[in-house]
This record gives sequence, C-alpha cells and structure tokens, in this order.
Amino acid sequence: MTLQLDDATIKPSDWTTSITYQSKVTFRPTEADLRELAWKARERNHTLGLTGMLLYDRGRFFQTLEGSPVGLKTLWDSISKDPRHCDIEILSEHIIPARLFGAWDMLSVHGDVARDSDIRRAEAGHELTRLVPALIDLVLHGDDIGMNQTIASLAEKGWDGDAILTHLIEPTARALGDAWLSDDCSEFDLTIGLSMLQLAGHAVRSTPVPGKLRQSRYSILLATAPGEPHTLGTSLLADLFTDAGWQVDMVFPDSNQALANQLAAQQPDAVDIGLSEALPREHTLAKLRQTVERSRFAAPDHLTVVSVGGRLFADAAATAENVGADHARKTVAGTSIQLAELIKLKRQQHGPG
Ligand SMILES: Cc1cc2nc3c(=O)[nH]c(=O)nc-3n(C[C@H](O)[C@H](O)[C@H](O)COP(=O)(O)O)c2cc1C
Repeated sequence: MTLQLDDATIKPSDWTTSITYQSKVTFRPTEADLRELAWKARERNHTLGLTGMLLYDRGRFFQTLEGSPVGLKTLWDSISKDPRHCDIEILSEHIIPARLFGAWDMLSVHGDVARDSDIRRAEAGHELTRLVPALIDLVLHGDDIGMNQTIASLAEKGWDGDAILTHLIEPTARALGDAWLSDDCSEFDLTIGLSMLQLAGHAVRSTPVPGKLRQSRYSILLATAPGEPHTLGTSLLADLFTDAGWQVDMVFPDSNQALANQLAAQQPDAVDIGLSEALPREHTLAKLRQTVERSRFAAPDHLTVVSVGGRLFADAAATAENVGADHARKTVAGTSIQLAELIKLKRQQHGPG
C-alpha cells in the first residue's frame, strides 16, 4: 500500500497532516528490538519535525504520525518499505488543525514481546492474581454463586477490597478481554462476564464507617468515554468514591458534546473518563485526547481535574500525558485519594476558580 501523498497533492508547508495505520510484524520482537526501533525513530522524527505514537500489541503495530506533508512523505517512503512489518493498512490520513501529540512516544504493549514488562511480571506474581484462571472459569460458566463464594472467602482471609479489585477483579477483566480477542469466548460471554465482575466488585466494597461518610466535600462526574460500552471501571469507581464521601454522578455519553454539556451543567471538581477495563482500545487514543480537550473547555471558568482510565492505562501502554489528562489510573483502587490530592494541588496553583 502506498501513501496517497504524491508530489502533486503536497499541501502548503504550514499545514499539518496526520496518518494512522496498522501493520503486522514479520518477526517476533524482543523489548530490546522495540526500544531500538523507538530510539532511532525518535531521533529521525525530531529531525523531520514529526510527532506521533507507536503501539505494539501481539504481533501488530499501530502508529499515528503527524507533521508537514513533506516530512511525512519522506518518512513514509522508509516505513512502507521496512521489511520488519507487512500488510500495512492505512486507517486514516488527513489534514489536522493542530497536532494531537506534543512529542514522539513509543508505547510497547504486552503481548508476545519476548520479555514482558515489569508491571505484568509483578502483577502475575501476586498471590491474588494467581486466582485469575479460576475466576475466568467461573465467569465463563456463568457461575455467580461460585464467584461470590471465592470473593467472600478472600475477604474472610483478610484481603481488603482494594487488593481484590487491583489484583484479581481488574486482571480478570483484562484476561477476559484477551480471551475474547483470541476467540476463546464470545462477545456475549465477555459482556456477561464483565457484569459478573461488576457485581463481584460491588460486593467487596468496604462497609462505610458512618462517621467517615462525608469525609470529602468534593464532587466527581464519572463518565464512560463517548461510545464505550464497557462500564466496569466507571461502576467500580462509583462505589469507591461514594464510600469516600464524594458527591458522585454518572453519565454514559454518546458524544463529546453530551459529556461537555453535563460538565458545564454540573461543574464537578473532577471528571473521570473511562475506557474498557477488558480491551486495550489503543485505536481510541487520539479520540480520547479530543474528549479530554473538549471536557476542559466545557466550563472555562471552573477548574475540573481530568482523570482517565481503562486497560490502555493499566497496561502502561498510555499515560495521562498522551491524552492531555491530569491523571491516569492504573487501577480503580486509591483513585479518590489521588484525585483529592490533585484537586488540592491545582487549587493552590490556580486559586479556587
Ligand atoms: C512499525 C514501524 C514504525 C516505524 N516508525 C518510524 C518512525 O516513526 N520514525 C522513523 O524514523 N523510523 C521509523 N521506523 C523505521 C523506518 O522504517 C526506517 O527503518 C528508518 O526510518 C530508517 O530509514 P531508512 O532505512 O530509509 O534509512 C519504523 C519502522 C517500523 C517497522
């Protein structure tokens, strides 16, 4: 496939063009291979004035590049001939009013990279995470009684709700996403499984201590990213923030405008925008960036801390910076504490607003 930016169509030099494509690797890269690729790419992109991001996930590359048409064409001549990948499919190619990426980032996602990331290894080694296969089995058999018993027995053994969420329920959601991606379960199984995990997460919430109930005077709008059908993270957060005494509202918007309207009307202290906890959703990164930007301008005179979450961030494949947010959660646990700190900090910096 060739990029349709031949000389005749090259735009004026001050225009910014963006291209997004996916491709398949022709070899099994190690982390060192990906690091080297990124390191060299960063240097050349800087010289060519290009920004963007590159994701690697289980044998596939996904890349967005942006910059002048001339710079992009020069690089594309190299990338399109690179023998390290094949089946290049251009997903979008257009002129953009402003760059989405301030810098060049290489983000290597888990998968068949010869050496998994430190985060994955640490996670896999956790005692609770070793129960993921058993929980997946219960989920795929629709055995909610078995699941409740498993969760209850963990609580009896002294595991607290945060640990169960971080090291068992969220990793199980990701494993379920993997099962769906590799065709080991149906979309129906995935949807039912996520609802079962939502209920299990609800069951592990800590019993609120009456005196502590209104310990926070902050408010938060919990939103799924526009168009995101998976609500596990958002609904687990609703329990956690309510227990921490926040005023909580939830919204499942179908557009950035709908979310902005809600933010303008409510003017909360924080908003959390959640992607799927089960699926990586790497292709939605640029879209999420627009959602975050739109959310910031919803109520220009009001300071709202913007948090994002979902598997993309739990896997460390993306950061808050990549999407222009103030905070990205790797797990739902502890988010209320982190956001309260951020609100305090921002108010000190900017005044109450
Ligand atoms: C998936 C993929 C993405 C790449 N992205 C970039 C990039 O953003 N910037 C870059 O300079 N090289 C990138 N490369 C490497 C280029 O294909 C090429 O090897 C490098 O730019 C050197 O160009 P040359 O071989 O024409 O000298 C990428 C390679 C692959 C396989």
